[in-house]
Amino acid sequence: MKVKSWSIVIQLYWVSLLMAFTSSAQSTSGEFTSVVDILSESAEFSTFLRLLQRNGHIPYLNELQNFTLLAPVNSAFASEFEKKAEFDVKNYVLDDLVLQTSQISNGTTILRDSVKFPLSIHHYGNGEISINKAFIVEPDLTPNFQNATVHGISTLLPDPPKVGNLLEKLESDREGVHLFNSLIKSFKGFESLASNSTLLIPFDVNFYKDFNHIEINYLLDAFNHLSTVESSIARDWSRDRERFLQTLLCHKIIGGLEADDKSLINLAGQPIKFRSWNLGSCMSVNDSTPSVYSNMIYDRGIAHGFTEIPFLHSAVSFNTEKYLHGMNSTDFVRELFFRNLQHMIRDESITKKMTIFIPETALNEKFGFTKPSLLYHFIEDQVWLEDEFLSSNDEQPSTKMFQSAFCSSNKRLGGQCQRLKIQKLRGSYTINSKYKILHAKPYEIGKTLIYTISEDLQLPGDFLSALNPFYHCSRSLVFLRQSGLLKLPANTQGYTVLLPCFDSWGFFDLNFEYLQNNATAVNLIMKNLILDGLLYSDAKNVTVETRNILGEKVSLSVSSTDDGGDDETTFQLSTVDEVIRVNHSLDSFFDQGVIHPLQSAYFPRAVNITISDLLETTGATEFINFLEHFQDLSSIIKENKPYSILVPTASSLNMEPVGINSTNLQDFLKLHIVTGNYTKNLLHCEGQANTTLGEPLLCRESSPGSYLLRLENGADHEVRILRKGCSSFGNESCIFLIDRPISLLWLSQQKSHLHLPGIAVGVGVIVGVFSVVAIFSAY
Ligand SMILES: *[C@@H]1O[C@H](CO)[C@@H](O)[C@H](O)[C@H]1NC(C)=O
Ligand SMILES: *[C@@H]1O[C@H](CO)[C@@H](O)[C@H](O)[C@H]1NC(C)=O
Ligand SMILES: *[C@@H]1O[C@H](CO)[C@@H](O)[C@H](O)[C@H]1NC(C)=O
Ligand SMILES: *[C@@H]1O[C@H](CO)[C@@H](O)[C@H](O)[C@H]1NC(C)=O
Ligand SMILES: *[C@@H]1O[C@H](CO)[C@@H](O)[C@H](O)[C@H]1NC(C)=O
Ligand SMILES: *[C@@H]1O[C@H](CO)[C@@H](O)[C@H](O)[C@H]1NC(C)=O
Ligand SMILES: *[C@@H]1O[C@H](CO)[C@@H](O)[C@H](O)[C@H]1NC(C)=O
Ligand SMILES: *[C@@H]1O[C@H](CO)[C@@H](O)[C@H](O)[C@H]1NC(C)=O
Ligand SMILES: *[C@@H]1O[C@H](CO)[C@@H](O)[C@H](O)[C@H]1NC(C)=O
Ligand SMILES: *[C@@H]1O[C@H](CO)[C@@H](O)[C@H](O)[C@H]1NC(C)=O
Ligand SMILES: *[C@@H]1O[C@H](CO)[C@@H](O)[C@H](O)[C@H]1NC(C)=O
Ligand SMILES: *[C@@H]1O[C@H](CO)[C@@H](O)[C@H](O)[C@H]1NC(C)=O
Repeated sequence: MKVKSWSIVIQLYWVSLLMAFTSSAQSTSGEFTSVVDILSESAEFSTFLRLLQRNGHIPYLNELQNFTLLAPVNSAFASEFEKKAEFDVKNYVLDDLVLQTSQISNGTTILRDSVKFPLSIHHYGNGEISINKAFIVEPDLTPNFQNATVHGISTLLPDPPKVGNLLEKLESDREGVHLFNSLIKSFKGFESLASNSTLLIPFDVNFYKDFNHIEINYLLDAFNHLSTVESSIARDWSRDRERFLQTLLCHKIIGGLEADDKSLINLAGQPIKFRSWNLGSCMSVNDSTPSVYSNMIYDRGIAHGFTEIPFLHSAVSFNTEKYLHGMNSTDFVRELFFRNLQHMIRDESITKKMTIFIPETALNEKFGFTKPSLLYHFIEDQVWLEDEFLSSNDEQPSTKMFQSAFCSSNKRLGGQCQRLKIQKLRGSYTINSKYKILHAKPYEIGKTLIYTISEDLQLPGDFLSALNPFYHCSRSLVFLRQSGLLKLPANTQGYTVLLPCFDSWGFFDLNFEYLQNNATAVNLIMKNLILDGLLYSDAKNVTVETRNILGEKVSLSVSSTDDGGDDETTFQLSTVDEVIRVNHSLDSFFDQGVIHPLQSAYFPRAVNITISDLLETTGATEFINFLEHFQDLSSIIKENKPYSILVPTASSLNMEPVGINSTNLQDFLKLHIVTGNYTKNLLHCEGQANTTLGEPLLCRESSPGSYLLRLENGADHEVRILRKGCSSFGNESCIFLIDRPISLLWLSQQKSHLHLPGIAVGVGVIVGVFSVVAIFSAY
């Protein structure tokens, strides 16, 4: 306590001593005053002077010539100064400049030479002048012993912030420089790049005016991938970012009034035309709207903030590769480089039409791309999905196929390109029925369109993986496996496979059972449906000569009706009687070609499944014996005549009172034989079906897939169709296995029953006619 108060007393003593000395010096030797004399003369500068003395700067100032000293008055040394220990006299000295306030123009002037850091001098016109926010409170104190001036200033002149801090401060004071700030934060060495420079700061609005979010992500390295990529990828990326900044920097400090009508070359070598506005308080570059924040001093340089820099957009040119980085698909870019396919996303993406499907980034599994599978993500054309599917009805799925850029598989696809199938349903798009396209509008860069997809697009795999389980092709697959056809030999042309699916074998389950016991027939059927060459369901009317996998020549005629939505394509094979209907949306690609899942089974001419084959399959031997008993009936079987036969199960036949010697056996059998042109009514369970006995049958679906038959003119008895199958000679001769015989008894009862009302009605009519006649004759 005592020591402290003593030291204050001593200090006060020294101050009063000093003041006494200086005032006497002034009065005695008035002619020769130095800068230090001026400081000494005014009590306003005592703190500053003491600081100069403490730091030993007095001799330096005494020897200095041709300069200006900015001297903070005592009040400038408010509390915060004591904490900031560093003091540099150079902050307050303007070398080689004897500044008179009368020389200072109205408005803003930037001092950049002979100063430690740039000074922004602002003359308000009303006599007030500020220097880097410090106001001149004691102007133009001039010593006569030195060529110099002294200006008392209201606050200290600390070092201005580093450029990074300036931007951070700017961002925290007012939003709007976030993007530029994050760009330079991730840019190593920006400070030295921006030193002794004029920096044009594009505000966020400026970014959004000139770039989309993908381009901004790229410039900002928003996903922090730049530091992780190989130099071959990083080189261009870093160069772009550097060039972007170089465009915004000039190696000369310019601002204020001096910026008017000046042209400077930026670090990218382009001229920039400056123009100052509003007495130097803001400026425009190449006729932009004037800057919003200007003449911001940093150590060392000056920054001006813009909402519109005309050449910002052209600072960087984009291509697909850069877009992929901006979409956080750097991993995909890497894979392309690894497989030497970078040309697809570099130069070619600007000059060549292209469409790319990019998997969404947040993939958990690591990419495992091969060159072919990478190429499968590209279509070498522009596919505008919304235009392609313009005419499609929104409720109906509609499908289009496109050739991918993977075309080099000579061995498997004969050099043709593997396709992509795109389907639209209710506004959303899917590739190969599996990969969802996440938005209908692509990103467009150069001539390339980019779509993002839900997961990594895989090349069609082997035969089995190609088939959607919902197509229900399993029985055909069993047959293919049985015939060793799941692995097809390389044929250098690819294959077109016609495959009965959708439980079409279940519909003809008798045929299926027959085939299960005849491998030869299965082999023939399946091999006849596997053809060389690629024919898709969008093929136009053509006839091609090809071969099936048996090596036999096949002539194939494609016919398609192209009437908007309900397209149908049919294939007519020279080896199959029936016309094969091919569904448009079902083309299923595999690594060796295309599979057409069919709605029904087709039998080639080479395979004859006869009525008698199917009859035998039912196991109803006694019934067959009955049929063979009669010449005309057995000829139906032997000659494959167009009749269908309802066959009761073997066990149910025993319960029926018919035998080989029954007199009504032939009628009984005829009641079970349907004329061929009615077969389709039975197959589809619609209308009536005439039996050869002349008694029609009616069909009824009791529950889905369960069909019941009864006599139209008979009792209420019904028989159930258990199984069915058709001969390969057209669909007019089929076998229907029924759960019990249709009894003649039902009929005869019904008939006798029918006769009575028939007579009654007849009598009634006659009576009626007589009555009418009687009434008329009464008049
Ligand atoms: C001061 O300026 C004058 C005139 O330009 C020059 O002759 C002189 O050398 C300068 N003095 C110093 C110390 O720089
Ligand atoms: C004083 O200094 C200024 C600035 O260097 C110079 O232009 C001027 O000639 C000097 N005057 C004298 C008298 O040396
Ligand atoms: C500076 O501004 C003041 C007030 O606006 C005006 O009176 C004065 O003439 C101006 N000086 C010059 C040199 O333009
Ligand atoms: C910036 O300019 C000052 C003064 O002209 C100079 O001393 C300094 O070396 C320059 N700095 C750089 C990085 O060029
Ligand atoms: C500024 O405009 C001039 C012509 O007015 C032009 O030559 C120059 O390239 C432009 N600067 C930039 C960076 O685009
Ligand atoms: C960008 O992709 C990486 C994987 O490459 C992932 O970890 C990250 O979450 C993604 N970032 C964003 C913002 O999606
Ligand atoms: C194909 O041929 C069929 C029948 O000959 C015809 O109806 C159809 O319009 C043709 N389609 C095309 C696209 O020419
Ligand atoms: C099996 O099918 C083939 C071809 O249709 C036929 O030639 C052969 O007779 C059938 N074999 C049997 C046991 O039915
Ligand atoms: C199949 O039947 C047709 C017509 O009856 C006959 O011409 C052909 O030879 C038969 N094919 C086989 C392989 O039995
Ligand atoms: C049918 O009649 C023949 C001779 O008329 C007789 O030999 C046979 O045993 C009879 N069969 C049956 C099952 O009654
Ligand atoms: C079947 O043919 C007969 C005569 O040939 C005809 O009267 C009948 O209407 C045909 N039935 C159908 C369903 O076509
Ligand atoms: C029903 O079949 C019988 C016998 O074949 C025939 O006489 C009759 O005309 C057929 N009736 C119809 C409506 O087809």
